[in-house]
Amino acid sequence: MKTLVTKSIKKAAQFIKDGEIVAFPTETVYGLGANVFDDKAIKKIFVAKKRPLDNPLIVHISNIDQIESLVKKVNDCAKKIIEKLFPGPITIVLEKNDVISELVSGGLNTIAIRMPSLELTRKFIDECGVPLAAPSANLSGSPSPTSWRHVYNDLNGRIPCILKGPECDVGIESTVVDCTKNKPVILRPGIISLEDLQKIFADVKIYKPRKLIKPKSPGMKYRHYAPKAKVILINSEEDFLKYKFEKNNSAFIGFLKLKGFKKFKRVNDLRDYARNIFNFFRKCDEEKIETIFCQRVPEFGLGLAIMNRLNKAAQS
Ligand code: TXA
Ligand code: MG
Repeated sequence: MKTLVTKSIKKAAQFIKDGEIVAFPTETVYGLGANVFDDKAIKKIFVAKKRPLDNPLIVHISNIDQIESLVKKVNDCAKKIIEKLFPGPITIVLEKNDVISELVSGGLNTIAIRMPSLELTRKFIDECGVPLAAPSANLSGSPSPTSWRHVYNDLNGRIPCILKGPECDVGIESTVVDCTKNKPVILRPGIISLEDLQKIFADVKIYKPRKLIKPKSPGMKYRHYAPKAKVILINSEEDFLKYKFEKNNSAFIGFLKLKGFKKFKRVNDLRDYARNIFNFFRKCDEEKIETIFCQRVPEFGLGLAIMNRLNKAAQS
């Protein structure tokens, strides 16, 4: 299959209308979308990504009114998030209605919904005329794509179209919040933080998967975000003494000023860290780096989301 890379919203939307799948930009990471009401098209996403069938998709909307076509009821918990934080890098989970197929929900009775803040994304969804079910546009298991080139490297020849847009400003996936009860539960941390949600809700929980129990957000059980290189998390310069490694095939990302690494990214702040982490992992793999050292950050605010991705990359 030939992969068309285009800036034309119209051309890309035509593929969706024809029952095909299209990779598209958002402010978080690139997504791989299909018409949410077209099971045949949805199946193609799982094939292209080599994604396990029990891992549900996020449904992307361009207009609040579209939510009604997806869920049984919008409760107060969801209403507050929609009012205060949509459009934005946040996904809500609600009980799905019967029209939504189990392919989208991964066999669950719930559905995840997000309205991206990137205007280009919303224009694209508008042009498609339907909400788009879309996971991140990477091969399953590899780091999420933060530029159209990452998508191309993973999926060239496996999908018919990539809508070309800017590099992703956030760089990590959206915050996923379970709104099925009236108290919100964070299933996946993101740039919209626990502290941000605590400004809206008196009580916010963070879901902690317990081993042996089926996780609430199936995506959490898969190895994710992982480069091919070995990832080691460090706190300070002294930590390097614990490891045997060659600087000339190792890399570092973090706040420390260090010398001699083959690849090195000094970040300015947490936003910069989040924006660069997946791109850095991919570049390290291209350059056949063997060990990537990542500096730990304190686990609050955006730091919680960064540590969530780093821990997953290091656990393998
Ligand atoms: O920022 C994002 O969320 C990006 C862009 C493309 O929007 N999308 C993304 O999709 O990261 P994906 O498939 O890579 O991650 C979706 C996550 C998975 O962890 C999945 O298990 C969870 O959302 N999820 C989807 N539907 C769910 C549901 N009904 N209940 C609980 N978790 C759900
Ligand atoms: Mg993903």
